[in-house]
Amino acid sequence: MKILVTGGAGYIGSHVVHELNDQGHEVIILDNFSLGRQENVDKRSVVIEGDVRNRSDLDKGLQGVDVVFHFAAWKAAGESMIHPQKFAENNIAGTINLLNAMLDHNVDKFVFSSSAAVYGNPEYLPIDEQHPKNPTNYYGYTKLAIEENLAWYSRLKGLHYAALRYFNATGYDVKGRIRGKEKNAANLSPVVMEAAAGLRNELQVYGDDYNTPDGTCIRDYIHVNDLADAHLKAMDYIVKENNNLIVNLGTGSGHSVLDVIHAAEAEVGKKIPYKIVGRRAGDPENLIASSELAYKLLGWKAKYSDLHTIFSSMKPVYFG
Ligand SMILES: NC(=O)c1ccc[n+]([C@@H]2O[C@H](COP(=O)([O-])OP(=O)(O)OC[C@H]3O[C@@H](n4cnc5c(N)ncnc54)[C@H](O)[C@@H]3O)[C@@H](O)[C@H]2O)c1
Repeated sequence: MKILVTGGAGYIGSHVVHELNDQGHEVIILDNFSLGRQENVDKRSVVIEGDVRNRSDLDKGLQGVDVVFHFAAWKAAGESMIHPQKFAENNIAGTINLLNAMLDHNVDKFVFSSSAAVYGNPEYLPIDEQHPKNPTNYYGYTKLAIEENLAWYSRLKGLHYAALRYFNATGYDVKGRIRGKEKNAANLSPVVMEAAAGLRNELQVYGDDYNTPDGTCIRDYIHVNDLADAHLKAMDYIVKENNNLIVNLGTGSGHSVLDVIHAAEAEVGKKIPYKIVGRRAGDPENLIASSELAYKLLGWKAKYSDLHTIFSSMKPVYFG
């Protein structure tokens, strides 16, 4: 199939592009390279340096396309609380612009990068897809707004879509094909590896007085190769079943901040300096996904998301 991948030079998109090419699909990447990296672009793809907010770039990219994978967005949740306009423009208006262009080009299949941020603070664990959606940051709201719009476009215009709610994406390609570090990474595992590689002086742990076994927050870490696998299965599902799909992508279990630091230390063979500081506002103590629905509908289960595989896949990117 011919597939347009927006944000295909970014962290998750570049991994998915490799997987799509491996499976013999024809891939067109549309990326403005604000946060993408040329060195992570799979050379088997056509690249359009352009923007989803620009209609003529979309008209170029959508010619003859069967499916769109949409990764292009801003993702810094903290920044979204300070500059919501920026997130409204790229994540909401940019996506609506893309969807409208797709309708004009008769492209009716869409795989959307949603997020666990649509749920907000957990009311129960593990979080399943029926959990109430109360985002606590504007970024999460942008994802929810698009999910709601997708439901309308499906009803009114026959769009088929998958909304994939990622939990904490982590790791790098287990085959070592991605060498450029994620730009502006704010998640724990890249920050831990930056501290390990001496790229940052100190690692701060926000609170050790949570009601968890070691007092630090617990998150569900999902390896980016597992995410890539889920994207291809999600595409097959919406194509073959002619149905929409809304699923969590996580492992169903979690690791504390200290578990993560200790696993990284074991992998790099040295102590990683960290300092316990106060809690950060708005951090839930525990976020774990139920991914049973993804297993039931797609036969998908995480294979690479143990901490050892996560850090062994990250090590070459940080240490060469
Ligand atoms: N990384 C995570 O843990 C995580 C978790 C949940 C959801 N997501 C979502 O997954 C998607 C991909 O995330 P990522 O971690 O790969 O981020 P990323 O920043 O590495 O990749 C985004 C890519 O999109 C490009 N881009 C941004 N705006 C664009 C625009 N207007 N036009 C064209 N290109 C544009 C950037 O240059 C970059 O290459 C995002 O939608 C993000 O919200 C990520």
